[in-house]
Amino acid sequence: MIPLIIDTDPGIDDAMAILYAAAHPGLDLIGLTTVFGNVPVATATRNALFLAELAGLAIPVAEGAAAPLVRPLAPYPDFIHGAEGFGDLPPARPAGRADPRPAARFLCETVAARPGAVTICAIGPLTNLAAALALDPSIARNVARVVVMGGAVACPGNVTPRAEANIFSDPQAAAAVLGAGWPLTLVGLDVTRQVICTEEDFAGLARAAPVTGGFLERAARFYLRFHRERHGRDGCTMHDPTAVIEITDPGLFETRETALAVTLEGRAAGRTRLASAGPAVRVCLVLDAGAVRARFLAVTGKADAAR
Ligand code: BDR
Ligand code: CA
Repeated sequence: MIPLIIDTDPGIDDAMAILYAAAHPGLDLIGLTTVFGNVPVATATRNALFLAELAGLAIPVAEGAAAPLVRPLAPYPDFIHGAEGFGDLPPARPAGRADPRPAARFLCETVAARPGAVTICAIGPLTNLAAALALDPSIARNVARVVVMGGAVACPGNVTPRAEANIFSDPQAAAAVLGAGWPLTLVGLDVTRQVICTEEDFAGLARAAPVTGGFLERAARFYLRFHRERHGRDGCTMHDPTAVIEITDPGLFETRETALAVTLEGRAAGRTRLASAGPAVRVCLVLDAGAVRARFLAVTGKADAAR
């Protein structure tokens, strides 16, 4: 089993990613760390605690950054994820409380305790990962892998013509994380945009797994409506689950090894572009979108049985 920490800003597609990871027999989800992004960090922590409890996992949830390293906080995208993070659903009410450690410390301590074992999957702005690197640079050699949902290398962005949301939200943190020289794979819009699930897919999940799939079906209604109204599309993009599926099914992705640079300021702030110098990362540029979608539905459909 792969020990996994998900760094997250839940968020509807974050919920899909976390419930997929919790249900996957090859993953050992050992903690969640939270960050501002789709919602304020306190809401992200509350939602992460709720998702862990929904999945039947007694795991630590450590709260992280409330704002980017340098840039001012951008407005929260409540038109995509809803004001509380799960579309139209009322505020989640978890029973548990957050771990007392800040996210960066939790990341460093957990990775240091099992050198070479722990994978980190970041599906929000990269502020916590940058803070962890600053707190204890040995995390870069002790982590097994870092998989980041973020960036748009050879395609347009989704918050600006050039920038993807997680990188745009904290470009300075993203530059530190992409340049850290650790074993990093970038799962950006180049591939995540191709993975689409429909209303019927979520209805099927609700039938297969009434508790967890039923929750995702209800939360996804808002996200599906956003895609219909904004993009005229019947189906929503599965950004965050695609990053977790890269960990469980790397054979469904083709990567290119290259250095990347992040534009820090100006109209192209948050852009991820190929660079000729700097540590190499693996960038996903091709995937089997149908197979990724099928993996998501098959694994998450068993989420109630895995609780
Ligand atoms: C990313 O931005 C957030 O809105 C999603 O949760 C995902 O992590 C996609 O650009
Ligand atoms: Ca996210």
